[in-house]
Parts: sequence; C-alpha cells; structure tokens
Amino acid sequence: MAGIRVNKLAPALGAEVVGVDARLPLDADAIAALRTAWLDNLVLVFRGHMLSDDQLVAFSRQFGELDGDGKAGPYSSPDNPRVLVVSNVIESGKPIGVLGDNEAKWHVDRSFVAAPPSASILHALEIPARGGDTYFMNMYEALAHLPQDLRAEIESRALNHDSSYGSDGNLRLGRKEVTDVSTAPGYVHPLIRVHPETGKRCLFLGRRLNAWVAGLTVEDSESLLNRIWAFIESDSSLVYRHRWSVGDIVMWDNRCVMHRRDAFDTTARRVMHRTELRGSPVVAIHGR
Ligand code: SIN
Repeated sequence: MAGIRVNKLAPALGAEVVGVDARLPLDADAIAALRTAWLDNLVLVFRGHMLSDDQLVAFSRQFGELDGDGKAGPYSSPDNPRVLVVSNVIESGKPIGVLGDNEAKWHVDRSFVAAPPSASILHALEIPARGGDTYFMNMYEALAHLPQDLRAEIESRALNHDSSYGSDGNLRLGRKEVTDVSTAPGYVHPLIRVHPETGKRCLFLGRRLNAWVAGLTVEDSESLLNRIWAFIESDSSLVYRHRWSVGDIVMWDNRCVMHRRDAFDTTARRVMHRTELRGSPVVAIHGR
C-alpha cells in the first residue's frame, strides 16, 4: 500500500504501522491493507498521534462498528461517551477512569458477555516514566503449544467467564463477592473458539479469576485451569511487551489475544482512552 509500512515487533505478534495520519480518513485500499495486517499480526501499533476523542472514534469506526449503546457510563470520557477512560487519576475525590494503578492480570476485554468486542483500541495520552507496560499473548499459538493431553481435556469443553471482578482484582460496582465459581454470574463460551474472520482455532480463556469449566467439579476445574495457566504463563515466546509513549494507538484483536498490564507508581499519572469494536457470538465449530 502506497506510503504505508508494517514492521513486525515480535515473533509471536505485534506490528508497527508507519505512514498513516490517524487524524485523516483512510481510503478503502488502506483500510483493507490495515485489516489484513491486523488479522496477520493481531496487534497493530500506530505511534506519534494525538487524537481528540472524536478523532479516536472516527479512526476506530473505519475498522468496524463501535460496541455498546453509546450511553455515557461512570468512566466515559466527558468529551465523547463512546470513549472509556483507563486511568489512575483522581479528580474531586473520584477516579476519572477504570483500573487504577494496580497490575491488571491477563484477560480478554469483556469476555463475560454473549458477544465480546472484536477489537480494543487504546490511545495513550499521559504515561508514567516507568511501569504500566502492556503485554499481549497470541492465543492461536497458545493453543498450538499446549501439550496434547491438556488439549484433549479441553476439546468440546466450555468455560464460565465471571463478570463480578475487574482485571485489577476489584469487585465491580454493584456486584457480589463470588463464593462458588460454579454459580458465578457471567457467560459460558467454548474453551477453543474459531476466529470468525481467519477461520483458525484459538484458546479462549478470558481471565483466571473465578473461571469455571462447565460440568466439572470445582476441584477438577481448578486443577485443569491451573495446569493450562501455568503452561501458557511460562511460555514467553507467546508474548509481545508494549512500552508506551504518549501518542501511541494500539489496536488488538480481542478474539485471539489476551493482555495484561504492569502496576506503576501511584503518584504518577496514566491516562489512556479506549474504544471497542462490536464482536459476534463465540463459536466452536472445527476449523484449521
Ligand atoms: C486493559 O487492561 O484493558 C488496559 C490496558 C492498559 O491499561 O494498558
């Protein structure tokens, strides 16, 4: 594509896009090329853009329909309700965004709904001098690397994705503490899903906290999940680590990527604005 270059950032996933002005509309060829690059690399990084919320929304919409109903929530940006604020900043005694400054454990954004978002697009407006790096894991490869016996145990199984706690480990507003994972609220999805655009199979774990493999005793489910998580978390070849700069826009495929974030200095400011693209129900037919 004329003027656009895509440079790989890590063997497993991640590529930097050069030659795009994210403030301006992209032509149809550029959008098609970037969608292909995104499906191939799972995470795209655009550096050096400072977008208003309206510009971030316009940029995002070129890749799909925005998720959600557009109504302002407690952590929506005051400038555009389609934008979620991810921040540790407190103003007038109230957090302006979600997640604070704690570590955020491995997760898929809003995997606990029937049709989780297909993409998350995160734009860095203020970042701390140290800490707060975000890590992305290739879940096609996670499935491919899984030992055969472990894989056999999860074929045709489904997992409940708990909706009670955030990825920072805190109970969400208005939710009750979970005492039995087999009755936790959320949504049950296949453990191995087929990506609706690439047709490839990947592991779909969501998050570890309060997950339950449907139909197993809690003890057996915990044991199986602990083995899967121990295996994938020890495999650094699955991961790209993103060290943020102000002006970065990172767009990841939420269907085949998990992410986590390091903690950072509580006295530093970190302000990120996020949009999400609408996804489709998770399916598990046999694929490649
Ligand atoms: C998230 O976990 O959704 C946000 C990641 C980040 O703050 O870098």
